[in-house]
Amino acid sequence: MARGDKTALVTGATSGLGLQFAEQLAVRGFGLALVARDSARLKHVQADLISRHALPVEILPADLTTTEGLGVVESRIEARPVHVLVNNAGFGLKEPFESASIDAEEKHLDIHVRAPMRLMHAALPSMLERGNGTIINVASVAAFTPRGTYGAVKSWTVSMSRWANTRYRRNGVHVTAVCPGFVRTEFHQRLGAELDDTRDWMWLQPGAVVSEALSAAGRGKAVSIPSLRYRAFVSASKFVPAPLAQMIAARGR
Ligand SMILES: NC(=O)c1ccc[n+]([C@@H]2O[C@H](COP(=O)([O-])OP(=O)(O)OC[C@H]3O[C@@H](n4cnc5c(N)ncnc54)[C@H](OP(=O)(O)O)[C@@H]3O)[C@@H](O)[C@H]2O)c1
Repeated sequence: MARGDKTALVTGATSGLGLQFAEQLAVRGFGLALVARDSARLKHVQADLISRHALPVEILPADLTTTEGLGVVESRIEARPVHVLVNNAGFGLKEPFESASIDAEEKHLDIHVRAPMRLMHAALPSMLERGNGTIINVASVAAFTPRGTYGAVKSWTVSMSRWANTRYRRNGVHVTAVCPGFVRTEFHQRLGAELDDTRDWMWLQPGAVVSEALSAAGRGKAVSIPSLRYRAFVSASKFVPAPLAQMIAARGR
């Protein structure tokens, strides 16, 4: 196949991890379909990627918390099958659960659970028919400790990816949950989080996270935890008694 004949669809592709997925998949020769809400920013990313990689790059402005926005992306996937699907778009909420708006919580559930579930469901039939495909679902280390609705939705992502990888790998389709710790993106700034007490060593760079994620997906791993320090953190957390884990989690949202 020639460069650009295979397509990777990346959600949340204008910033942070999604922008890095787009960049690194372009370097690997994939044509791209990029999703986010801000169409001016999508156009800017599209022009930049086309000029540097000379590959087809299409953009799909869509709000993935809406049925209409999801429909735009599902129709695109069903019309022209994708080879790689990266479910990455996401945001966090600052308010504690009990005082957050329930509508905001529902949108948070939609972006992290409903959208990836529907897009996987749209992408799988053609991947299974072709006998190959890669689905990457961006989760978080928050999946491994109780941490409000953010930890809960990311646990769903890990659980679903583990199951789907076992079920579909015999048909050539691999599903990988990527579980980063703190990454320098716009995520925390957008939600207005104060992270002054977050140590330098806790921050990961998006480029390194995405390159580990793509390598793990290439090896068909169900779960990827980028960086040795966070793999150690997740391993250690398995031995922390449940009450202590709850206490630590209670310091977060
Ligand atoms: N940064 C971290 O520390 C960290 C750690 C672990 C996991 N994660 C996960 O990594 C993923 C990517 O986050 P990031 O850190 O790269 O954040 P980011 O820099 O804020 O990027 C978020 C991307 O998602 C898009 N997006 C947000 N809401 C959307 C919606 N309703 N519909 C469509 N697109 C939407 C944004 O574009 P528009 O605003 O234009 O829509 C943007 O392209 C998220 O799933 C997050 O939970 C992040």
